[in-house]
Amino acid sequence: MKTFIEKLPKAELHLHIEGSFEPELMFKIAQRNKIDIPYNSVEEIEKAYKFDCLQDFLNIYYQGAGVLVNEQDFYDLTYSYLQKCADQNVRHTEIMFDPQTHTDRGIAFETVINGISKACDDAKIKLGVSSLLIMSYLRHLSEEDAFKTLNQSLPFKDKIKAVGLDSSEKGNPPSKFKNVFEASVKEGYVPLAHAGEEGAAEYVWEAIDLLGIKRIDHGNNSLQDEDLVKEIIKRDIALTVCPLSNTALRVVDDLKNHPLKKMMDLGLKVTVNSDDPAYFGGQVNKNYMEIQKALNLSKADLYQLAKNSFQYSLLDENIKLVYLNELEVYFNNNK
Ligand code: ADE
Ligand code: ZN
Repeated sequence: MKTFIEKLPKAELHLHIEGSFEPELMFKIAQRNKIDIPYNSVEEIEKAYKFDCLQDFLNIYYQGAGVLVNEQDFYDLTYSYLQKCADQNVRHTEIMFDPQTHTDRGIAFETVINGISKACDDAKIKLGVSSLLIMSYLRHLSEEDAFKTLNQSLPFKDKIKAVGLDSSEKGNPPSKFKNVFEASVKEGYVPLAHAGEEGAAEYVWEAIDLLGIKRIDHGNNSLQDEDLVKEIIKRDIALTVCPLSNTALRVVDDLKNHPLKKMMDLGLKVTVNSDDPAYFGGQVNKNYMEIQKALNLSKADLYQLAKNSFQYSLLDENIKLVYLNELEVYFNNNK
């Protein structure tokens, strides 16, 4: 199974670039920028990464992102993640970034987007990994603030495929961002959002009905509402599930109780992703391996998950077909 997963062609659809920031690189960039971080060693950092809930994690995650200043920092962060993609047979990835985490510290939008997108362009050529970008609005901030970000993004529209919604879910329902999502769609961005991670099924309803999202990030709590599950299936909306994130943030108490297989059995289209791999103990392949073991998934289940990852990506249909064909050949030769 380990080799089967390692060689399985796959896409990653739920990844925060700031959450891929490994301690070693964080130290290097902090030193380069002469910024103090409250840790003296990689061990100290790893010890601090124990979370009771989403907010607990977010506090540490925003602090880590605070050492990113120059275009080169954003480039190095992104290229380092894309190298890991290449090592894991992640053929395509859809990368979320949080502009407000940086612009609120006085970093120009341009610095962030140029660093990230140059790394993506280089990785396509040098590593053969394709990618596209999802600009995520921080839901703990106001809709007005999100509008500012939307406006800042417009000169770089050709580099951004979609908009997302992340950060503290509870108390920040999708309805708060109805207008900015409507405006984002008018600008040509595909609407996506985190929903039902810590928030209730009601938030998932809002995300699909009011924001019109094309994919749900997490979506675990959709299972609380049978009608919602039916509606998600009817609209053919996929859920980007993140097993190790769910246990790290105590959304799920134990991987053995993770609802992924139940979701698949109900007919939901799910994918496996790492969310914030530097903080949650594993890259995407580790997520596949751990959930396979915990739920005793078959090779056919893993094939289905990888198939969904290409099928529900935001790639053009003709490119999807190329990846899907590569995957099918792989599966037929390794069943
Ligand atoms: N930002 C980074 N990771 C996140 C998560 N799991 N949920 C919400 N916002 C996030
Ligand atoms: Zn996420």
